[in-house]
Amino acid sequence: MATALAYEQFDTLSDEDCDERIVAAKRALGKRVVILGHHYQRDEVFRHADFSGDSLKLSRLAATSDAEYIVFCGVHFMAEVADILSRPDQVSILPDLAAGCSMADMANLAAVERAWRELGRVLDPDARVTPVTYINSAADLKAFCGEHGGLVCTSSNARRVLEWSWAQRDKVLFFPDQHLGRNTAYRMGVPLEDMAVWDYALPNGGLTREQIERARIILWKGFCSVHQMFQPVHIDSFRREHPDGKVIAHPEAPFEVCQKSDYVGSTEFIIKTVRESAPGTRWLVGTELNLVNRLHEQCRDEGKVVEFMSPTVCMCSTMFRIDPQHLVWTLENLVEGRIVNQIKVAPAEAGLARLALERMLEVSP
Ligand code: 13P
Ligand code: SF4
Repeated sequence: MATALAYEQFDTLSDEDCDERIVAAKRALGKRVVILGHHYQRDEVFRHADFSGDSLKLSRLAATSDAEYIVFCGVHFMAEVADILSRPDQVSILPDLAAGCSMADMANLAAVERAWRELGRVLDPDARVTPVTYINSAADLKAFCGEHGGLVCTSSNARRVLEWSWAQRDKVLFFPDQHLGRNTAYRMGVPLEDMAVWDYALPNGGLTREQIERARIILWKGFCSVHQMFQPVHIDSFRREHPDGKVIAHPEAPFEVCQKSDYVGSTEFIIKTVRESAPGTRWLVGTELNLVNRLHEQCRDEGKVVEFMSPTVCMCSTMFRIDPQHLVWTLENLVEGRIVNQIKVAPAEAGLARLALERMLEVSP
């Protein structure tokens, strides 16, 4: 096979040039390629997506797509899931390999295995604890959950996943996002006193035997750096200025923010809720900036105002790495018959991770 077109030739292309070339490459590839775009993608990339969605919707699309190439405009764990759920002859591609997720990096297999061993000094985790990993995690953590009777969750099915988990065993170890775990469990009626935070930097997670025994859910001390920017004071000042306004937040936002919000849900839920609201409504939205700005533009004609929750500009810098230059580089290589930036999960890991993902899909609405 001839060598791939080097990325350096693409780095200096203007966005306008990329735009035309992306359209041309997509036309040349036809049904052989599908572009999946997460809602946090920048406009210049998002407009080329064949399908958009939250993590659950995009996972399902990857699992059912017939395309030879699945080009994922999102972050690394999403392209891994696409590889795991698609057929072996399909190829999952991430246009820039540096597009990771800082929250996903807060849990790794060694630390989770250590936590499992340390929990084992207090109780039998394989009999008492269901491990649940947020989809924002590496494939080996999904495989760990598959192997230990656990499963994956996303922001849109966390409640169903926790219901299932507690039906199997009396405790849950939830990683890597403490906020999604806490916000979901609290809304299901679990008091904060029955939750414990596992500090992975400390022996035994920094917990006593009594704390572990009492906890119904043990929350890994991870968080999303984008969503932790949102604070209750932002909601208070919005409500003072706009008493009729509505507040909606992603469940990765801190507990107090979600408590003060009128609605909490996934990116797809946020978009649907705001789009379906009455004309003239004003919204304060606690999720990533590209989504919020696009929603504002889309709803402007109906007289809706959609505001970003934080006064500080905070984008997901890793989602932002997928730019038109990398997308055109990826697609033109495919046109030439060359695959660049394929994401391939090792078969042994992929099998167990698939089990954890399939358990999730079975319990998802
Ligand atoms: P969604 O599944 O709600 O799109 O969330 C993904 C994500 O990474 C949010 O930060
Ligand atoms: Fe990860 Fe946060 Fe970016 Fe979502 S917004 S991909 S959780 S860093």
